[in-house]
Amino acid sequence: MQATVLTYSLVGLDAQPVSVEVDSSRGIASFNLVGLPEASVRESRVRVRAALIHVGVELDEQVITVNLAPADIKKSGGSYDLAIAIGILGALGRIPEGKLGGTAILGELSLSGAIKRVRGVLPVLRAAANHGAARAIVPLDNAAEAAHVSGIDILSADHVVDVVAHFTGERALARAKAPPTDLSRFRSDLDLAEVRGQHAARRALEVAAAGAHNLLFIGPPGCGKTMAARRLATILPPLTEEEALEVTAIHSIAGVVPGSGLVTMRPFRAPHHTVSPVALVGGGEPVRPGEVSLAHRGCLFLDELAEFRRSALEALRQPLEDGTVTICRARTRATFPAKPLFVGAANPCPCGFFGEPSRSCECSPERIQSYRSRLSGPLLDRIDIQIALRQVTIADLTRSAPGEPSAAVRERVLAARAIQSGRTTRNEVHATVNAALGPRDVAKVATLDAAGSNLLSRAVERLALSARAYDKVLRVARTIADLEGSTAVKSAHVAEAIQMRLLDRRGPPSKRPPGAVAAA
Ligand SMILES: Nc1ncnc2c1ncn2[C@@H]1O[C@H](COP(=O)(O)OP(=O)(O)OP(=O)(O)O)[C@@H](O)[C@H]1O
Ligand SMILES: [Mg+2]
Repeated sequence: MQATVLTYSLVGLDAQPVSVEVDSSRGIASFNLVGLPEASVRESRVRVRAALIHVGVELDEQVITVNLAPADIKKSGGSYDLAIAIGILGALGRIPEGKLGGTAILGELSLSGAIKRVRGVLPVLRAAANHGAARAIVPLDNAAEAAHVSGIDILSADHVVDVVAHFTGERALARAKAPPTDLSRFRSDLDLAEVRGQHAARRALEVAAAGAHNLLFIGPPGCGKTMAARRLATILPPLTEEEALEVTAIHSIAGVVPGSGLVTMRPFRAPHHTVSPVALVGGGEPVRPGEVSLAHRGCLFLDELAEFRRSALEALRQPLEDGTVTICRARTRATFPAKPLFVGAANPCPCGFFGEPSRSCECSPERIQSYRSRLSGPLLDRIDIQIALRQVTIADLTRSAPGEPSAAVRERVLAARAIQSGRTTRNEVHATVNAALGPRDVAKVATLDAAGSNLLSRAVERLALSARAYDKVLRVARTIADLEGSTAVKSAHVAEAIQMRLLDRRGPPSKRPPGAVAAA
């Protein structure tokens, strides 16, 4: 007899339907699995055989052939186990004919027949809903995540016996219910108010959040770079429902979904500087998203940027440029979205005190030059805002009043974002945030008056700003104007944007402090 069960294979975020076709006949016991299964799927035979004993089925004297179609997609992972087991039971006549149609089945089996959680349930179910599958059976441990997908009935089970009972009509499986989630909630343990002094850093965070500009902090040890960067996520707009699903889909593939089943806050990822290129941008077998994709729609924070391997930083270039990561293999091509707001932090020199009035720097110009060269180059091209921080003073720490809280700053960020999306809605530009404005769009929405354009020309000459820095200044100036609610980009906005271009000046480091960019 034969039976067919629907399941899915996942490559990157792309889920493809897979038919599990099972044929059984009596004969000398054998269990063949075809259709490009990887080792992990071939092992499925052992798990399925053992699990089926718990529903009273022994595969002695049965010739079982399982075909995973289409055969040209490589299948890996344990998520096919349950579909294969149910397919066999269908082929053996233990599940009535015609009951299996329209139901997508996912789950890994333990030897006892228990159904274990699998990765990537959310992206698979979104695809299944789009393909018109009426319902899906998922592991109970994945039920919360699965229930956030609309347009498909989600049933969950934790043992193969329950799935059989469902199909034989003995006992229907429970519908998965989504736990309540709240997208308007922010981390309560971090607030921008805790950052004392450091007005330049606070302002840079606000401008970066408002226009989605990538950001770099340079400063001495202990000045609050890490502290300030960690608070960036608290001033970004809340995730929309669609964004939350998109982010959760990526986290689901990495197997890091919260208990509520939905990532409700913008992710903040801060990989250590020893991170490998694969862990940073994705890869492995099966392909998993890297930190840059796990930070999608949130922040990717690289602390101690100069200490990262050059190969890792090089690997980041393409994702930061394109907003996606594509990992090519002989037979597969996995794509993950990767649109984080990038934040870097670094010391100005190996000892950390170059340009600091309170301490003298012990590094030779050559060492500083070599250290700085690790920060420059193509990655820097993609960082719109680069600012220097000074050591925080005792007066700032003890006497200054707490800074403005995150909630107040976020209000301004939201207003500036609304202005930007208004320009997209009116079809004036393509990008929804200023950081993504192309050269033509920048010219269109950041036209300068005579004073502003004069100022920028002088800055280009006097600070030796490179040509590529020119558009960045305009984009940042546009955001500063948006934060002020100003339609025109004025010379004051340009002046502030120029101050945020620390490392784009050409030439070797002088003994001039790195942040001392004289007003142009
Ligand atoms: N501006 C500030 N306001 C309040 N506390 C601060 C400030 N700057 C630093 N601190 C205190 O100092 C600690 C160290 O700061 P942080 O780790 O952010 O420094 P850093 O600039 O990242 O240093 P490093 O270069 O060593 O990484 C913080 O946890 C905080 O307690
Ligand atoms: Mg730090």
